[in-house]
Amino acid sequence: CEARKVALLGAAGGIGQPLALLLKMNKFVTELALYDIVGTPGVAADLSHCNTPVKVTAFSGAEELDACLSGADLVIIPAGVPRKPGMTRDDLFNTNAGIVQNLVRAAGKNCPQAVLEIITNPVNSTVPIAAETLKAMGVYDPKKVIGVTTLDIVRSNTFVAEARGLDMKDVDVPVIGGHAGATILPLLSQATPAVTFTDAEKAAMSEKIQNAGTVVVEAKAGKGSATLSMAYAAARMAESTLLGLNGEPNIYECAFVQSEVVADVPFFASKVLLGPHGVAKVMGLGELDAFETAALQAMLPQLKTEIQKGLDFAKAN
Ligand code: APR
Repeated sequence: CEARKVALLGAAGGIGQPLALLLKMNKFVTELALYDIVGTPGVAADLSHCNTPVKVTAFSGAEELDACLSGADLVIIPAGVPRKPGMTRDDLFNTNAGIVQNLVRAAGKNCPQAVLEIITNPVNSTVPIAAETLKAMGVYDPKKVIGVTTLDIVRSNTFVAEARGLDMKDVDVPVIGGHAGATILPLLSQATPAVTFTDAEKAAMSEKIQNAGTVVVEAKAGKGSATLSMAYAAARMAESTLLGLNGEPNIYECAFVQSEVVADVPFFASKVLLGPHGVAKVMGLGELDAFETAALQAMLPQLKTEIQKGLDFAKAN
């Protein structure tokens, strides 16, 4: 397959380091370019001793950002600050909005053809920031800006498998909406294999999935949010994206992208088909049951507000 350069921005962080390891083990990656404001030479030196063919390069500080991004096919962004106990993802906005916009501008300048995958929270706002920023530069391609919500799917698969005693590897639960609180909507009615839940069980399972990130934040007691499971999920999304770029057919993931699936909601997570140029097709919702239809309606005000907050920030900065 073709040579693929992946740039990882925020590579020395809690998500960045395990994600770098997983990408160093990925057979579709040829070069892994690590960028952070501090610490990348150490991560790269360490990682480069693993005997896999991926070439690891390190870039530190703003003056090396352009070189990191030049020629990248896929840019993954976990740079920013994580949550502490008591914080919502939206509380991160003030710090992370500017970090993401700055990195996205550099990507728009140095690798406008690359697929961008944004992990930095609040994803409901940072993805609109990325889109609007690239639009202002004249290089926005909606197929290439993706908010990584894969951890919501990974968590749903795990929790449903545990609840029903199913084999972890067999379970697939689509998750739609956004990536914060009630905007995370697992479609239990579309789970594979089919599972039946009462309305009370659906409510409890949905809440468990929505609250899973906060459980990790509380358990880490001030030391951050999900890093290992997030890296695992982002590595899965990256692999699916690289398979799509390589022309492999029928690669689907749920992801938060520009969308017309729900009226007046310009960005929305749903199942997408991945292809040679990023998102080949937004698949939409499928058939929702009454519980899911109500949950979708209930989330829309929050989701719209968080999207608009991102768009407004990008327009003002
Ligand atoms: N450019 C590049 N890297 C940056 C910048 C910047 N402007 N600002 C911060 N970073 C780096 C930090 O130096 C650090 O290495 O981003 C990394 C973030 O790592 P952690 O603080 O450990 O945070 P992490 O747990 O990885 O979460 C990062 O992902 O899931 C989201 O909500 C989470 O927004 C948070 C982000």
